[in-house]
Amino acid sequence: MKQKKIIIGNWKMAPDSLREARALFQKIKEMSRKTRNIQTVICAPFIYLSELKALVTGHACALGAQNVSNEKNDAFTGEISSAQLKNMGINYVIVGHSERRAMGENNDLIAKKVVAISTNNLTAILCVGETVRDDSGDYISFIKTQILESLAGITHKNITRLVIAYEPLWSVGKHTKHIAKPEDVLEISILIKKILTDKFGKNIAEKVPVLYGGSVNQKNARDFLVEGGVAGLLVGRASLQVEIFTEIQKIANKI
Ligand code: 13P
Repeated sequence: MKQKKIIIGNWKMAPDSLREARALFQKIKEMSRKTRNIQTVICAPFIYLSELKALVTGHACALGAQNVSNEKNDAFTGEISSAQLKNMGINYVIVGHSERRAMGENNDLIAKKVVAISTNNLTAILCVGETVRDDSGDYISFIKTQILESLAGITHKNITRLVIAYEPLWSVGKHTKHIAKPEDVLEISILIKKILTDKFGKNIAEKVPVLYGGSVNQKNARDFLVEGGVAGLLVGRASLQVEIFTEIQKIANKI
């Protein structure tokens, strides 16, 4: 069976109010019902998740968190566990996002989070990607290390609960000067499949969807999905603009 394309919205630290979050989510959810060939996932701030969960009907639009603790139920002030998310009906968690790596998260911590996420039957959306593209090709070994170290603790059984998102930092966010080209994305999606095949075998590697994220919009979404050879998109800014995000859903649904 053909794998459904996965279109993920990462709302980051927005919107400012629950009212806006509900309104945005409702519209995205409505479009999800009409775009059954894709799986839509909205990764909202923790504080909105339970309210948004109450709006979910069916599986066309799932919810994800943007972070989680690597620890189990104990004394960790301010943290949220995978078990808490699972029991709330959340299905996905972003881990290893470049914005969290910039706050000090390293591959060792990310590996622990991946284990906590997958053993609680949640799907980890593991973000990897280089800071710069150097001519010497160092970014290849950088990405390989990120993947292998971040997946150091995951079992063969749990690796099916994994999505890898390639997010090159130079192509992410409003300050980016140039956006990745589909061929850049294709190169890395092939690389990621090769790394997974060498480490876990072909059967497992085939099952792990590789996504692209970084300045995705309604104009470039199709090219990334078709020419970039990825199984889905991780959308930042554009996921807060309902017309653009629902257009991306429609585009992905037709591929
Ligand atoms: P932008 O789409 O805003 O570049 O963000 C990408 C991203 O970081 C998604 O996780």
